[in-house]
Amino acid sequence: MNDSAAAHDDTILALDGLAKTFRVGFWGRPVPALRGVSLTMRRGESLGYLGPNGSGKTTSIKCIVGLIQASAGKVSLFGGDPGEAQRRARVGYLPESPYFYDYLTPVEVLEYVGKLYGMGARDRAQRSKMLLGQVGLEHAARRPLRGFSKGMLQRVGIAQSLLADPDLLIWDEPLSGLDPMGRKEVRDLMASLRADGKSLFFSSHVLSDIETLCDAVCILDRGEAVAQGRLSELLRSEELESEALVDLPSSDGRAAVLANLADLPGANLTDLPSGIRLLLPTAQVPELMRLLLEAGGTIRELSQRRDSLEELFLRKAVRRGEGAA
Ligand SMILES: Nc1ncnc2c1ncn2[C@@H]1O[C@H](COP(=O)(O)OP(=O)(O)OP(=O)(O)O)[C@@H](O)[C@H]1O
Ligand SMILES: [Mg+2]
Repeated sequence: MNDSAAAHDDTILALDGLAKTFRVGFWGRPVPALRGVSLTMRRGESLGYLGPNGSGKTTSIKCIVGLIQASAGKVSLFGGDPGEAQRRARVGYLPESPYFYDYLTPVEVLEYVGKLYGMGARDRAQRSKMLLGQVGLEHAARRPLRGFSKGMLQRVGIAQSLLADPDLLIWDEPLSGLDPMGRKEVRDLMASLRADGKSLFFSSHVLSDIETLCDAVCILDRGEAVAQGRLSELLRSEELESEALVDLPSSDGRAAVLANLADLPGANLTDLPSGIRLLLPTAQVPELMRLLLEAGGTIRELSQRRDSLEELFLRKAVRRGEGAA
């Protein structure tokens, strides 16, 4: 890309063929955790990173923030080298299981992080107070972390990631360990950060959270990106199904018509006392109509089933695994 194109490009994060193989045990047995993941994320976007346990989400995130080195491929942050201090300072990172020295208090953790970022004393104190309030920890702000629950530590982690007012938040499972109220608070916080124009890259297992918070998703499975793009486009998939409830007159030819309906490509038929229920690809609906017209049948209900993120996830990641097995 030439310089002028780079200047107009609003890509905030790009992974290009990112691969990581861990070596384990005495013989250095290779464990491939990432097998060439490529993605781009635009400024202001909220990208959900999804995948079953062990699919490589945390490994990718650690490569992005520079905690581990990729075996192959490239990470680019704000259009350049992620190792540069200026670029790193624009990223707020929340690790999967935040850990801090447990004799410190939340105020002390934030004070320490603020100093690392080179923030002035007043700025540190102001932002720390504001953020501890935002994550609901003002009552415990001066208590040692020793007695904190998992959800409380998660809140400290979130607050420290926001301290330097970063442009890009990279959060590994931000909603894990939180009670229902805490989840709602963090979801609201994420929505308000997004409204403020921050870019959010976060992993999660909770599909409904991703569905409500993200513009784009990337589904990872065994180290590979198996689906990615804008949520609205992925969910408007060509595999969209229709559901029809139909009636057939009881006649000698009924069984043959039923067989024809069941033979429609991709159809799934259930003959219920209340009618015949058919799930079929939307593209097959005209053929269904034709068969019914011929047989003197009627359609009682016809609806299009919207693909949900859960179905997409199951199809792309879980069922792929079943196929491989
Ligand atoms: N330090 C390590 N040494 C060896 N193998 C590792 C190491 N870290 C991760 N792995 C392996 O890499 C793969 C991906 O792990 P990773 O933690 O990235 O998954 P994940 O998608 O974050 O899972 P989860 O949803 O459980 O957090 C797994 O097979 C894991 O065992
Ligand atoms: Mg993980």
